[in-house]
Amino acid sequence: MDNVVRLQSALHDLDASINYAVKANGNLAIMQVMAQCGLGFDVGSAGELHRVHCLQRHMGRRAPLVMTGPAKTTATIAAGLESGAQLVAESVSELQRIQQAAGALGITAAVGVRVNPDLEASTHPHLATAAGEGKFGMPLAEVRRLAATWSTWPALRLVGLHCHVGSALYRLDELDAALGLLVALAAELRAAGCALQWLDVGGGLPISYGEEPVPDVRAYGDMLRAHLGGTGLALHCQPGRYLVGDAGLLLSAVVEVKQAGRRRIVLCDAGMNDLLRPALYGARHRIAALSGSGELRSADVAGPVCESADFLARDVLLPENVGDLLAVLDAGAYGMSMASNYNGRPRPAEVMTWDGQAIVVRQRETLDDLLRGEALLPANGPESQDVPGSAAP
Ligand code: LLP
Repeated sequence: MDNVVRLQSALHDLDASINYAVKANGNLAIMQVMAQCGLGFDVGSAGELHRVHCLQRHMGRRAPLVMTGPAKTTATIAAGLESGAQLVAESVSELQRIQQAAGALGITAAVGVRVNPDLEASTHPHLATAAGEGKFGMPLAEVRRLAATWSTWPALRLVGLHCHVGSALYRLDELDAALGLLVALAAELRAAGCALQWLDVGGGLPISYGEEPVPDVRAYGDMLRAHLGGTGLALHCQPGRYLVGDAGLLLSAVVEVKQAGRRRIVLCDAGMNDLLRPALYGARHRIAALSGSGELRSADVAGPVCESADFLARDVLLPENVGDLLAVLDAGAYGMSMASNYNGRPRPAEVMTWDGQAIVVRQRETLDDLLRGEALLPANGPESQDVPGSAAP
């Protein structure tokens, strides 16, 4: 919650809507805290939207809602519109499909378009989303042309421009450059008659996973203020990692320690299916030994998955006699939300500390959970089409 407050105070004098990027960590209890702090949500799929619906039913009120992301199906578009989400279109053909869906619902939909500014971002290549040849958004020239053709979509009002340069942006100048282009484009579109109301700068605020210096959130606020001041445009942003990244850790028990040539390998019961970031991006997370004794020695920490990439950390210092539990730090963003059941592994429980209490906010999955929805072939008899239960042979 401190992260939310820090961001809110950095943006306090701006007309700002902070929409939490649910993809970072969609646990309902986390989303509940965000809503209680007055945040809205950025959803990128029908599944994330379903989470918002669930929470809204529980709270008895709606939260501001934005739907972003490429390849929205027509059904997802319709569900977004019915939920009152502001949709951000990624292409002209998506605008056409939003027009059809809004027409069918008999509504006029306020929409934004995602601009692809063709900028490099000095983050991991997998996290850069503003490259001209990438799949995201529309080139500046194409967005410019929209002003002339907008009347083709009578059920749509263009109210905003969106740009998500990338995630884990350790340099503000990249966001600064994107925002400069966005503000100039907004001025052109307004001059051409579009009644734009907001600019959405996406997410991207980083956290430090150890040594990397991170930009001060107040400098982020100042940068936004410098661009938006006097434009009359509201600010939307969609932080994920900044809000939850350092608020979560992954606990894992050491199963054994072995020597592989010159490397000492600590094998534990959490793996890449629980925290994919090190295997997928080479991300470095700090690891703390919660018990153990003796001198600190370098070790690689690996999991039980049958893949050579199944490391949680390389070359970290751990006690010589490493004890039972390790904590992988800064796993609150894109940890559980990217976890899978690979290698027949139930996903772990999620526990939240709140008001001095530890609350289980997601049950540990059971082995039977892994079989949910599966069916055996009819040749084995009709009863075999039921989901197999836990009756072990
Ligand atoms: N808005 C949009 C449209 C996005 O695509 C994203 C993240 C965000 C906001 C939130 O970005 P953030 O503030 O968290 O940087 N799995 C990767 C991160 C992928 C981010 C995808 N999009 C990781 O583990 O680092």
